[in-house]
Amino acid sequence: MSCFSSADESAHYGFSVCMLLQQYREQLGWESAPVVELGTGDASAIADVVAGLPGLRIRSYDISEDSVRRARANVAERGVADRYTVELGDFFDQADAAGGEPVTTAISNPPYIPAPDRDILMPELWGGERGNDLTLQLLKAGYDHVVTAVASYADPVTTVGTAADLGYRVVNFLAMGLDYGPYSSEPKVREQIRRIVAEGRGWAGDDEYMVAVALFTRDPDLPGDRGDQLLHALQLPA
Ligand SMILES: C[S@@+](CC[C@H](N)C(=O)[O-])C[C@H]1O[C@@H](n2cnc3c(N)ncnc32)[C@H](O)[C@@H]1O
Repeated sequence: MSCFSSADESAHYGFSVCMLLQQYREQLGWESAPVVELGTGDASAIADVVAGLPGLRIRSYDISEDSVRRARANVAERGVADRYTVELGDFFDQADAAGGEPVTTAISNPPYIPAPDRDILMPELWGGERGNDLTLQLLKAGYDHVVTAVASYADPVTTVGTAADLGYRVVNFLAMGLDYGPYSSEPKVREQIRRIVAEGRGWAGDDEYMVAVALFTRDPDLPGDRGDQLLHALQLPA
């Protein structure tokens, strides 16, 4: 087992979550209800967000023992262990079973590495054949608001289309270009990315791609419908 490590990507995720939570503070209601997170990683980016937003409470889950161990240490070091809890296990088994206060908002930088099978550098990062299996599962889990990273090579066309079919709109997003890291550079992953791009369902340059962290909502009181702009930002026709 290993721990996901990508400083740029984690920083972008943390910054974007912070921006979106602050901008839509009232509508997301996170000051009165906990937020859940799929995939803690080493927790460093979101621990800083929790430290900076005093009303925020997050229950986070990760299937990687190594990640959970490091995450708990980072969360404790930043002094937010009472408001940012980290559990070992599958988000989809545990978050639902946790009970307690109703949760309306989920956040995630989900696993999105596309490959024909799970036998990749870090199997916990496998996102299915097109990379978006866990993103779609999260959108189908019934939360009112989902803040999730969407990668340009992981079939965002299907992700945005499925979200719309489920009644979600894209309220807003923050996009950033990223260079291929070790997980995207693996030959079988590159080959799979090439297939997705050739099918017109994703975008990647020779060694680069785009990631956007987007707020999807089903709440009629939260305006915004930027699905087409999100696809454009990911270099795809809407
Ligand atoms: C791309 S990493 C993101 C980590 C961290 N949020 C960050 O941005 O630095 C995705 C994480 O999801 C975890 N993961 C994969 N499948 C999961 C599942 N079903 N439930 C909970 N965590 C999962 C992986 O172990 C990995 O740590």
